[in-house]
Amino acid sequence: MHDSTAAATSQIAAPNAAAVGASKPRAGRSANPRYAELYRRYPTIDYLRRRARQRLPHFAFEYCDGGSGKEDSGIKRNWAALDAVELVPRYGVMPSLPPCDIELFGRRYAAPIGIAPMGGPAIVWPGADLYLARAAQRARIPYTLGTVGCATIEEIAEAAPDVFWFQLYRAARNDHAIGFDLVRRAQAAGCHALVLTIDVPVRTTRAREVVVGLSGAFSPDLKMMLQMVMSPAWSLALRKNGIPRFSNLRAYVGANASINETVAFARREMGGAFTWEEIAKYRERWKGPLIVKGILHPQDAEKAISLGVDGMIVSNHGGRQIEALPAPIDALPAIVKQVGTRATVMMDSGIRSGTDVVRAYALGAAATFAGKAFLWGLGALGEEGPAHTIDLLIEETQAAFGQLGAHTPDEARSVVVRHRAALQF
Ligand SMILES: Cc1cc2nc3c(=O)[nH]c(=O)nc-3n(C[C@H](O)[C@H](O)[C@H](O)COP(=O)(O)O)c2cc1C
Repeated sequence: MHDSTAAATSQIAAPNAAAVGASKPRAGRSANPRYAELYRRYPTIDYLRRRARQRLPHFAFEYCDGGSGKEDSGIKRNWAALDAVELVPRYGVMPSLPPCDIELFGRRYAAPIGIAPMGGPAIVWPGADLYLARAAQRARIPYTLGTVGCATIEEIAEAAPDVFWFQLYRAARNDHAIGFDLVRRAQAAGCHALVLTIDVPVRTTRAREVVVGLSGAFSPDLKMMLQMVMSPAWSLALRKNGIPRFSNLRAYVGANASINETVAFARREMGGAFTWEEIAKYRERWKGPLIVKGILHPQDAEKAISLGVDGMIVSNHGGRQIEALPAPIDALPAIVKQVGTRATVMMDSGIRSGTDVVRAYALGAAATFAGKAFLWGLGALGEEGPAHTIDLLIEETQAAFGQLGAHTPDEARSVVVRHRAALQF
């Protein structure tokens, strides 16, 4: 056993002390009057996943649930790596369910939990982006709109003004004219943080998506139509919100562009990972907190810091690229150690419970993000799903801090952690 936390404790990024005067986020039992009933039926994220599998059209579930590699082995590695992290509590202190609000880049959020950027979430549940954004705003947790999300920057800025982050993919051929314009729009709309994704240098295969017919445009064939008919709640949501489309990009393809044209445009124009030189250019343009997403090596963290980034998300894209990538939780301690207080280190990939959140927090992550957990919530409960996913994660996070004897999140950083698979670089 070794105490990897002890080594990391003094290195953890100090939050920006100049907090914006936001009201204190809520903590504690959910304000949702339906919480008790939903909790009885779906007491954990795994129950939401099971229900989503039954309730969604098959193609929609496969889109959100699948990953790269043989039988999603990259996703399974992320889960197993988190499960393997053990936290040793200390007892004999007055127990409490501590508030778990935190500060990121000068803003207070209700918990060290955020919604990761996702492309095409409206395939999983029509209207997804706005439902996720509104729930994040109510709960006061970060919400990240994806470049290939299905709502516009301006719509999200209106729905989630206090918690809005924007993720950018690299434009493959257009000399960054589109990227720079998206950044200009995000800045004008009051977005708080810009996230540059660096971990999709090439396209890879997610077999479950290919087999259900989602490798190109969203143009339902007979099989998909039948699946929709078998999922009346999903079909109603489709009727209410319209066919999923990459709304942000329509401004560049032409207002009258068909869905297929927009998808073909996205496939043609978005691609490749940002180079360090390109990140430096975005640093010059973007005035707010700049975050790089997809870091797995301490030297890449070092390079990012040298270019002036404010934060990074240790991530393997939720196991959706290639299955050989290490689980981010295993790379986290070395990256936290390397970065120290020079930037804010966050983590995603595999988060399925508040206990996972606290595992990452104890190992030095300032916050964690989840993708699939929120999509499963949507799949199980539609519009109500994001709020229930947030409630579960916050309740479990508080319970895990309380179990460890921590009266504040930071006290959880002094527990002994057994983390045998921590990567040494
Ligand atoms: C359906 C889906 C679409 C995604 N699309 C994007 C995207 O457009 N941009 C991006 O940076 N990450 C994308 N991701 C990755 C997430 O931002 C995040 O890294 C990942 O979901 C975290 O792992 P988890 O799903 O195990 O929580 C996507 C993930 C999913 C599940």
